[in-house]
Amino acid sequence: MSTDKRILLIVAGGIAAYKTLELIRRLKERNVAVRCVLTRAGAQFVTPLSLAAISGDTVYDDLFSLTAEAEMGHIELSRDADLLVVAPATADILAKMAGGIADDLATTLLLATDKPVLVAPAMNVRMWEHPATRANIGTLATRGVMRVGPGVGDMACGEFGEGRMAEPDEILGAIEAYFRGDAAVMTPSQGAPDRPRPLSGRRALVTSGPTHEAIDPVRYIANRSSGKQGHAIARALADLGANTTLVSGPTGLADPPGVTVVHVVSAREMLEACRNALPVDVAVCAAAVADWRTSDEAVQKIKKNGGGPRTLELVENPDILRTLSLADNMRPGLLIGFAAETEKVVAHAKAKRKKKGADWMLANDVSPGSGTFGGDRNVIHLLDDGGVEDWPPMSKEAVARRLAERIAAHFTDAS
Ligand code: C5P
Repeated sequence: MSTDKRILLIVAGGIAAYKTLELIRRLKERNVAVRCVLTRAGAQFVTPLSLAAISGDTVYDDLFSLTAEAEMGHIELSRDADLLVVAPATADILAKMAGGIADDLATTLLLATDKPVLVAPAMNVRMWEHPATRANIGTLATRGVMRVGPGVGDMACGEFGEGRMAEPDEILGAIEAYFRGDAAVMTPSQGAPDRPRPLSGRRALVTSGPTHEAIDPVRYIANRSSGKQGHAIARALADLGANTTLVSGPTGLADPPGVTVVHVVSAREMLEACRNALPVDVAVCAAAVADWRTSDEAVQKIKKNGGGPRTLELVENPDILRTLSLADNMRPGLLIGFAAETEKVVAHAKAKRKKKGADWMLANDVSPGSGTFGGDRNVIHLLDDGGVEDWPPMSKEAVARRLAERIAAHFTDAS
């Protein structure tokens, strides 16, 4: 990179702000002059002193500082730069840029500048995917604002998905490419963030929810499964481009968008619907299928018979996961089960993976204190041929996205 370049780096308020210190260090190594502007929120994550020490320049953080204004007018700050870089670019600063709001030094500079701007967005995945952010990114792109990242991965908030700020090396790469005149970087990012769709052309089957096994026309055997995890997985697979069929037992959940949903009640109906969905590349059996049903479902409501004990004779339901694993040439290429356990979670899941013929088993703790059943969070241990992978506590949606990404990586590695 040419050594006479000058960058004005705007550091907004995100946990990724600490990475800008490394970015400045790398730029300085290349003799690029870096001057920093720190927003009020940014100062919660990185101090003006550390930015000043590493950049070797004054850090500007207050629009109305008369001393700073006397030394250098705020418009001068950007006039002096070859490129403005906003890192981390929070949802808030992107919204202000898109809306032309100038309520502090950083946003005033961004509105007043005629210099090129590169943003490195960083935020929670849901904020990144929100239609408001997508629209703002689209608006900025049409105005020629360049973008690097965000990446996909674990987030500080415990979720997983798109929204991690690009690493310092990537930002440096984008800056170098810009100064080289590389067309790929100089072209504004294309509108809304496009999700990669690595599972397009793949077929996926997901089972979800409980099953209800009728005792008579008004009573049934059931369990506490909410279907949240299975539904989230179906959605995540569809989001990555898979042609997805969700076979759902009775739940109170809405059908996920972009997914073919087959509603069933009993285990036998669920099995039938799964068979009809074959062949598939991947099947995820997340349903809490009832293990038993009555051997003799009563046609009429069973009457109380005067206080004597009543016996329900139970027979085992078909095991859908096991049946799919034995489906010869129709066996899903990748077969994934869940092991909901209340004790010795990993050991029991290991045995279950073998017994059921699954490729991967996602073990989760459903003991009474865990809050997994019906709750929004989950702690997963993923078991495969290679061993056990412990995932941090995550929302069920984050588990779904991480699983979908891992499934996509499996197929990419295999091809
Ligand atoms: O209930 P169990 O712990 O055996 O469930 C483990 C896995 O087997 C889960 O993935 C579940 O969806 C699947 N299963 C099934 N059919 C059954 C019982 C369980 O597909 N009848």
